[in-house]
Amino acid sequence: MRLKTTFTPADFEALAQTDLSETTCVVFDILRATSSMVTALANGAERIRPVATIEEALAAKAEYPEALLCGERHGQRITAEQAKGTDFDLGNSPREYTAEIVTGKTLITTTTNGTRALRTSLGAREVLVSSFLNLQATIDHLCEASPKRLVLVCGGTFEEAAFEDALAAGAIADAVWNLFTDDSIEDSAQIARALWLAHGASLNASIQHALNARRLLAVPELAADVDFCLQRDTIGQVIRLDPQGWVA
Ligand code: MLT
Repeated sequence: MRLKTTFTPADFEALAQTDLSETTCVVFDILRATSSMVTALANGAERIRPVATIEEALAAKAEYPEALLCGERHGQRITAEQAKGTDFDLGNSPREYTAEIVTGKTLITTTTNGTRALRTSLGAREVLVSSFLNLQATIDHLCEASPKRLVLVCGGTFEEAAFEDALAAGAIADAVWNLFTDDSIEDSAQIARALWLAHGASLNASIQHALNARRLLAVPELAADVDFCLQRDTIGQVIRLDPQGWVA
């Protein structure tokens, strides 16, 4: 049994080299990639293909021409100048993924860190896509499945750790703590849990100082994404990345 957290994109490479066949990964990019994916599926999207790069997104679009192209660079929707003349249909605001727009649709998405974190976890026994929006559903599933090895994968901000992702990882670590023996819990999980125990009760106030929250709050059309992504348990679905690379 083993419980650990990874905090930064620097950990993606190591994770990709690890045998994850007996490991469950839970991936978070609270602001905003995993919050947007969870919202899109709850609002009726059929499936989502997360890819690491704009080039991969364009290649996937050629394969699935009916799909909507989604994602961000520097927080904003990807434009024709960045994508060989193709304007993306949607950015990475969860508020864009309404039932009117996504019901029955296939989505292809590339974001700065969140989609890379998901691709990195692809070889795992099970990959869960989590957020505060579906946190309790994720926790209930983990308590029932009782995985032997659990890695809480934080997307981070730029190349750094992100406060909001570490908090969400801490919430999960706290909820599954008793499934693991003391000697199987790594310091990384203890750090995340300690952060959650210190700040979980004042989630909105504590996240206002996080870099990604400040970045979004400074852009009038994106500011409301912060409060949206901090809502707790508005969605009761467990969301998974399947071995073929689709989130559904
Ligand atoms: C990411 O994947 O790095 C993010 O979700 C960035 C963002 O949406 O601003």
